[in-house]
Amino acid sequence: MIKKPRGTIDILPEEMPFWHFIEKTARDTAALYGFEEIRFPTFESTELFTRGVGDTTDVVQKEMYTFRDRENRSLTLRPEGTASVARSLVENGRCSGTMPIKLYYLINCFRYEKPQAGRSREFYQFGCELYGASSASSDATVISLADTLIRRLGIKGARLHVNSIGCPTCRAAYRTALQEYFRSHTEELCETCRTRLETNPLRILDCKSPVCTGIANGAPKTIDYLCEECAAHMTLLQSSLDAMGIAYTVDPKIVRGLDYYTRTVFEFISPMIGAQSTILGGGRYDGLTKDIGGPALCGVGFAAGITRLVLAMKESGVEIEDSHAPALYIASMGEQASIRAAAICARLREQGLTAEYDLIGRSLKAQMKYADKIGARYTLMLGENELQTGTAQLKNMQTGTQTEIDPGDTDTLITALYE
Ligand code: HAM
Repeated sequence: MIKKPRGTIDILPEEMPFWHFIEKTARDTAALYGFEEIRFPTFESTELFTRGVGDTTDVVQKEMYTFRDRENRSLTLRPEGTASVARSLVENGRCSGTMPIKLYYLINCFRYEKPQAGRSREFYQFGCELYGASSASSDATVISLADTLIRRLGIKGARLHVNSIGCPTCRAAYRTALQEYFRSHTEELCETCRTRLETNPLRILDCKSPVCTGIANGAPKTIDYLCEECAAHMTLLQSSLDAMGIAYTVDPKIVRGLDYYTRTVFEFISPMIGAQSTILGGGRYDGLTKDIGGPALCGVGFAAGITRLVLAMKESGVEIEDSHAPALYIASMGEQASIRAAAICARLREQGLTAEYDLIGRSLKAQMKYADKIGARYTLMLGENELQTGTAQLKNMQTGTQTEIDPGDTDTLITALYE
């Protein structure tokens, strides 16, 4: 048997009501905050991610699906959406003009990670990016959007963790402090982190190796090294969140695994869903457009993992009604009745009513059992006799009440179905 590649997921029809609900709620919430949808390629030049996400990150060093096309260009399946949105704005000349620019996306992403519950190699994100506003209130707006989405999905117990990782100015002193700290543990660090010690010590803080994580726990904290402007930005953000009534914890351990972040970083954590408990993460990235070769344009945003949202919703006891039950199921016997059933169903569907009839020649009893199983609201019995006499029984499956109707009179049938 051919199996799906390791780390990929099938989303089967019975799961879809959750996905549709999340996608609709995400679109509606984004629209409520004035965000518009953007779509971009599934693969990009590898350079976009090495420069945008950062060549010392786990994502770039260990997790990218990179391949050569027939012209020997190096391409990469998108591991996330932020770098692509930045590329699209730069490429389409959207870095000047009316600001802010507010965009959202629903995408699949690819990362070669160790699969486990809530972590797959192909996964799905809902993301929002707000460009052209450097204020702490724009950070607060994006966090408020995320918070509204999580509440609208019915997720309980998710906690917002915020931190500031400063700007390039304060980063210099912090980098020195980190290097000093990690140098005393050089021997214990993993090979990648030993290199990172010289190139980008901040990335040791989000290394997934348990030994490095243990050492990172005792490392100096970004929040103690903020310059005056970054500290003021963080204070303003906290005041805005307080004013909006959004509860949060300042968590110096949140550093995020991508290089483009500056100042604010945040995560929503749902402790109920196991080890992969970060359902949503984001932050400010004021240098990204410049890093990828475009003009400077500040931005802030987040992305939520849809599989993790589904897990958190289920853990919160959310139930989504499956709306596929048809209004009518026609149980037919014989060829002529089947042809008539097809015609009736076609008429009903034209009127926007869901209707089904037997397609595989089941017995009448089996058809009724099937109608019950798919949750048909009404059934109509149609055989030779009914065709000849022009009378058939319409049964309300909930109450059991039967009404006699003329199967040729679809107008009356439609009226009865709406009752
Ligand atoms: P990220 O933290 O790498 O950030 O991913 C965002 C969310 O995607 C995570 O919180 C998680 O829910 C989900 N996720 C990540 N990796 C996986 C995986 N392997 N399997 C399942 N779900 C996963 C970003 O991607 C940034 N681009 C977010 C952002 C937007 N920052 C600013 N704007």
